[in-house]
Amino acid sequence: MKAFIFDLDGVLVDTAKYHYLAWKEVADSLNLNFNESMNEKLKGVSRDKSLKIIIEENGRDLSEFDLSNILKIKNEIYLSYINKIDRNELLPGAESLLKKSKENGIFVCLGSASKNAKLILHKTKIYNLFDCIIDGNDVSNAKPNPEVFIKSSQILGIEHNLCTVFEDSQAGIDAAITAGMNTVGIGENNALKGANIIIKNLAEFNIN
Ligand code: BG6
Ligand code: MG
Repeated sequence: MKAFIFDLDGVLVDTAKYHYLAWKEVADSLNLNFNESMNEKLKGVSRDKSLKIIIEENGRDLSEFDLSNILKIKNEIYLSYINKIDRNELLPGAESLLKKSKENGIFVCLGSASKNAKLILHKTKIYNLFDCIIDGNDVSNAKPNPEVFIKSSQILGIEHNLCTVFEDSQAGIDAAITAGMNTVGIGENNALKGANIIIKNLAEFNIN
């Protein structure tokens, strides 16, 4: 292994709950049905694709103008939570594995769908631990498209089979598999299909 590529939301930081709360507030204000099970389908999925999923599940049709206004409002609500976060939102084992990777000569990269990734890395004070950062602003194709991970490996100059991706979403695991990379699924259950190994959190990952 020469590089570890980490997803952000749900792998390094506990931000999935804020995405949920922001979508819930938006959905309630528009009388759209939105619940925890629908929320599962949004994990790893870009902001605009997430809205399309919610609209489709509700059998509604909205103009491009409405869609872009809703996306703006959703992000404002999300940022109202994110602006208050600090290092306490780091998930177990996250910072320690980032540091241990470097100590062991393994490159560390972020591969996230979020356009707010850099702000979150600064708020939690882990920004400086990354050799490269690829986020939602750098790609045109959202996960499960492998673009985010392929770009990460290109910047590092590392072959795909020597990269390991840490992901909590099926879209992310599928993207990494398509890229020909190794996968570590992060989650409470074994719902992630195709991952090489599944662990509850990064604290369970033994770098040796
Ligand atoms: C992913 C999250 O990491 O980022 C998704 O799992 C989210 O839930 C996506 O929609 C985009 O995030 P943002 O911050 O650009 O709205
Ligand atoms: Mg995630």
